[in-house]
Amino acid sequence: MTANELTIVKSTNLKPKPEKDQIPFGSTFTDHMFVMDYAEDKGWHEPRIVPYEPVTLDPAAMIFHYGQTVFEGLKAYRADGDRILMFRPEKNLERLNRSSDRLSIPPIDEDEVMNHLEELIRIEKDWVPATDGTSLYIRPFIIATDPNLAVAPSKTYKFMIILSPVGSYFSGGIHPVKIKVENEFTRAVKGGTGMAKTAGNYSSAYQAQSNAYKEGSADVLWLDGIEKRYIEEVGSMNIFFKINGEVVTPALSGSILKGITRMSILELLRDWDVPVVERKISIDELYEAYERGEVEEAFGTGTAAVISPVGELNWQGKKMTINNHEIGELSQKLYDTITGIQRGNVEDPYDWVV
Ligand code: COI
Repeated sequence: MTANELTIVKSTNLKPKPEKDQIPFGSTFTDHMFVMDYAEDKGWHEPRIVPYEPVTLDPAAMIFHYGQTVFEGLKAYRADGDRILMFRPEKNLERLNRSSDRLSIPPIDEDEVMNHLEELIRIEKDWVPATDGTSLYIRPFIIATDPNLAVAPSKTYKFMIILSPVGSYFSGGIHPVKIKVENEFTRAVKGGTGMAKTAGNYSSAYQAQSNAYKEGSADVLWLDGIEKRYIEEVGSMNIFFKINGEVVTPALSGSILKGITRMSILELLRDWDVPVVERKISIDELYEAYERGEVEEAFGTGTAAVISPVGELNWQGKKMTINNHEIGELSQKLYDTITGIQRGNVEDPYDWVV
């Protein structure tokens, strides 16, 4: 056996599966996980599937101090005939390596990890829920493990994949939410880590998010960190607007995450001959278009929610009500198409599902 051959240790103590499919996001985990280690002299080695259990780390492990870590999020779905499908998983592994590059973490072999992920899903296939809107959320992540307080990249890492059955993101179907345009805090700046899926981008958003909740909004619309003018993301999602028949999404500037749902929507819209453009869009431009009655739809896109329509934007006391708080036709069509392809109910001419 070589150091890179997958070993499998099955759990002898299987957990009961959740009885209902309406499971809160990220709160329940399956029986097994994937683990692999990195050392400078061995590279990534000892890939293994083992029973799900806590990890033991030295309190000085670098992850705890300087946050050298990256993660991904994707889903597996149960389709007709009990086939288990994943949506564009290779894009997540590609992005994991781009995030790792930004955080000075050594790259994984995407093809090898894809094989290990497929094996893990095969072992845990009974954990993939069946009801519409449910899925098995897949969370790959890498942490820096050197016990060392030096401010420098770790020489050792742990890569893990854990799995969590999740219910429908919105109980009762998708519904438009209220969003506060954030003027005080910044999510990311050009040259920073906004394009990477790394922990600090998410925890640094909590304060803005909780202020938004207190003001009755579900989340915030992020503006650029320098001029506080250009629209970047909504919550932890990419953002799209339909303005006077044309779909606009902020161009990837270095501070915006290259979402896989975002990419899929751009590809679908181009295929459907819907006018679509990736460009800078300022909050003033959006407000002017709103005053002319041209903002037809707005929606966030991400793995967790797929499409999350925006029903209202509050920008320093100026309120924009979008599509009368109703789901737009295009938002609904995109949601139905993507979730249909993910579940194997709609033909997949793009070869997106695996
Ligand atoms: C997504 O929906 O794509 C996200 O980034 C949310 C996730 C971090 C829970």
